[in-house]
Amino acid sequence: MDSPGSPKSGAPEAAKQIHAIHEIAANRSDFQDEIQALYQQWAENYDKDMDPTHYGGPAFGADALNKALKDKNAHIVDCAAGTGKVGEELAKRGFTRIDAVDFSPKCLEISASKGVYERLICDKLGSNRLKGIDDGYYSALICVGAISVGHLTHDVFPEFNRIVKKGGFIVFTRSKLVFPDGNENHTGALDEIQNAIDILIKEGVWELVDIVSIDESFCVGYGCDVYTIRRL
Ligand SMILES: C[S@@+](CC[C@H](N)C(=O)[O-])C[C@H]1O[C@@H](n2cnc3c(N)ncnc32)[C@H](O)[C@@H]1O
Repeated sequence: MDSPGSPKSGAPEAAKQIHAIHEIAANRSDFQDEIQALYQQWAENYDKDMDPTHYGGPAFGADALNKALKDKNAHIVDCAAGTGKVGEELAKRGFTRIDAVDFSPKCLEISASKGVYERLICDKLGSNRLKGIDDGYYSALICVGAISVGHLTHDVFPEFNRIVKKGGFIVFTRSKLVFPDGNENHTGALDEIQNAIDILIKEGVWELVDIVSIDESFCVGYGCDVYTIRRL
């Protein structure tokens, strides 16, 4: 019998990996090294496990940016780019200048093989300053599948604001629900992210351009909100 919060029997490998991420993040705040190690191991099979039948996130994110950003040669940064699925979707929509940031060298190696990125930056995303990126360098930033339990939290927003020029776009997904494991820390973490988003909009740092609610087709049974923000 399945234990509460565990992926159902026969669930795809993707669901098992995401469950493992939530387990690592449960009740802990210093989980980043373990998450990085998990992605180093998962990188090789990530594209197979997270095929579009299990994970629609990259296409949803790329659609949102495509709707907002008219200049196909605008300089875009894909944060938490992983194996490059978002870059591929942006390239399909005609975008030509995309950089990638991720802290997993193996994921970035796979991203590089896709031939859709100009620069690959291996660095941690969080409250730290990213290496080699000037203030206001990018016209747009996209971050799919990473503002969630066990990955990035709202402490990355000031760095997003630093590297995107005023008037530029920030598109990100915010996971709506983790596995129904009843972990209140997870719910609290998602609520804190939502609060931070609301404050930035209220304070006029961000203008909310669009918000699209995605059902469980976002990622192995859970949904997200896709935010399109203009950085003011
Ligand atoms: C679910 S994957 C999403 C990848 C890609 N955006 C996609 O939609 O397929 C999450 C990615 O975030 C990266 N990641 C998680 N925490 C990170 C951090 N603090 N700094 C940099 N990368 C991080 C992982 O290495 C992984 O590649």
